[in-house]
Amino acid sequence: MAPFSISSRQARGLGNRWPGRIGLLCLIALGSCGVPHQIAAQDFERDPINYITAPTNNPISRLQLQLNNGTEHLDRDDRQGYLKSVLELLEIPVSSQTLVFSKTSLQRQLIAPRTPRAIYFNDDVYVGYCQHSDKLEFSTADPSLGAVFYTLSQEASEKPAFFRQNDNCLSCHGTSNTRNVPGHLVRSVYVDRSGFPVLSMGTHRIDHTSPINQRWGGWYVTGTHGEQSHLGNLIISGSQEREPVDNASGQNVTNLDTRFETSAYLSSDSDLVALMVLEHQVEGHNLLTRANYQTREALYAESRLNQDLKEPAGHRWESTTSRIQSASEALVKYLLFCGEAPLTARLQGTTSFAKEFSDRGLRDPQGRSLRDFDLEHRLFRYPCSYLIYSRSFDELPEEAKTFIWRRLWEVLTGADRSREFSRLSDADRTAILEILRATKPGLPESWSQRPTEQPNGR
Ligand code: HEC
Repeated sequence: MAPFSISSRQARGLGNRWPGRIGLLCLIALGSCGVPHQIAAQDFERDPINYITAPTNNPISRLQLQLNNGTEHLDRDDRQGYLKSVLELLEIPVSSQTLVFSKTSLQRQLIAPRTPRAIYFNDDVYVGYCQHSDKLEFSTADPSLGAVFYTLSQEASEKPAFFRQNDNCLSCHGTSNTRNVPGHLVRSVYVDRSGFPVLSMGTHRIDHTSPINQRWGGWYVTGTHGEQSHLGNLIISGSQEREPVDNASGQNVTNLDTRFETSAYLSSDSDLVALMVLEHQVEGHNLLTRANYQTREALYAESRLNQDLKEPAGHRWESTTSRIQSASEALVKYLLFCGEAPLTARLQGTTSFAKEFSDRGLRDPQGRSLRDFDLEHRLFRYPCSYLIYSRSFDELPEEAKTFIWRRLWEVLTGADRSREFSRLSDADRTAILEILRATKPGLPESWSQRPTEQPNGR
């Protein structure tokens, strides 16, 4: 999709930035000149999701309750406002800092190669920080709503409060770039000296399947990675637009001090391993949300249909099953790193990110964890995403979860040896199965049997 073309959601987002009623009237006028679909609400704003009105339950909404009742308190300093304090309360490590200098997000007027935007994250919250901005930006994985967005004013206040944001964010965070659900994104673009994307040179939407040589355009990257090249740390000057890109000086960079004022940030790095994890995670969250939404929407549509056709409640239609299975299968493949871009040399970051990340892992009796890194041939040693421990996974509708557990069992026991899972060796499959059995609460009953006792087992 053309990156900055106006989608129906963007049209609404723009509308909402126009002053109140005038914006609304303009959009109604738009509707009357033959494009009514441009103002139709997104499916997720209606039953059964009710994105805007349904109650939230995520780390930010819970922190807000604690701020309200005085059990937590946010501190502010003159350099980065509430940033440091909010990261501490949300348990987001400073080492997760990545820096993006492309003008691709909301506060583009503040973002440039000399003033990059910092992004910090843990397993379920992402924080955006721009120098001289009046607000911090947040996106968080809400188990039933998917990505939910907030801002926090950087002005000193007696009672700092997170402000829920919808259209301002969904104009980019609720489009085909985020699988048409409220979601997260990472892009890679060529950027000029001012930070503007040079769109004529191409743009990529990034997840763990993206080849390394397409990644990190518009991002600073600190870390070593041998001979494999990437687009990070690259600024395009006028003449380069028409030439093959030479990014030799952007490779294996371990210090950014000559490129911008690093002391303006909590860390002077944009860690390579943190970037790899961020890129895996954002798409993982989007596919979790998609499986959640598709299942609930399919079941809701089915119950309406059964009512209308006077079928018994719970009558199962083939189309319901196939919609649930298709979204869930995409999630299973992603969780098992199908199509992951291979690494050809060892990666090493420049901060304590990798250590802090794997220290948080649940371990089996042999000391193995899904958060152990490989970083030589692939991202993780045991290629099954740690997002399987997340609340977003646990709170998937039962219909989706039952299917997902069945498919994981089939693949991990080797009953399914289809080509798309062929990069999982027998040893990988066994190790993942054993780690999950030892560490994942709430496994289905059937997982306590030995694989050979399953009808389809090895
Ligand atoms: C103009 C498009 C655009 C708008 C509008 C936008 N974002 Fe983003 N956002 C991006 C892009 C692109 C990225 C990926 C990083 C980058 O390029 O800066 C991103 C990344 C983020 C991230 C990092 C993790 C994630 O979710 O992808 C956060 C947090 C975030 N945005 C918050 C917000 C909030 C809060 C709003 C609304 C108040 C918002 N954004 C509005 C484009 C946008």
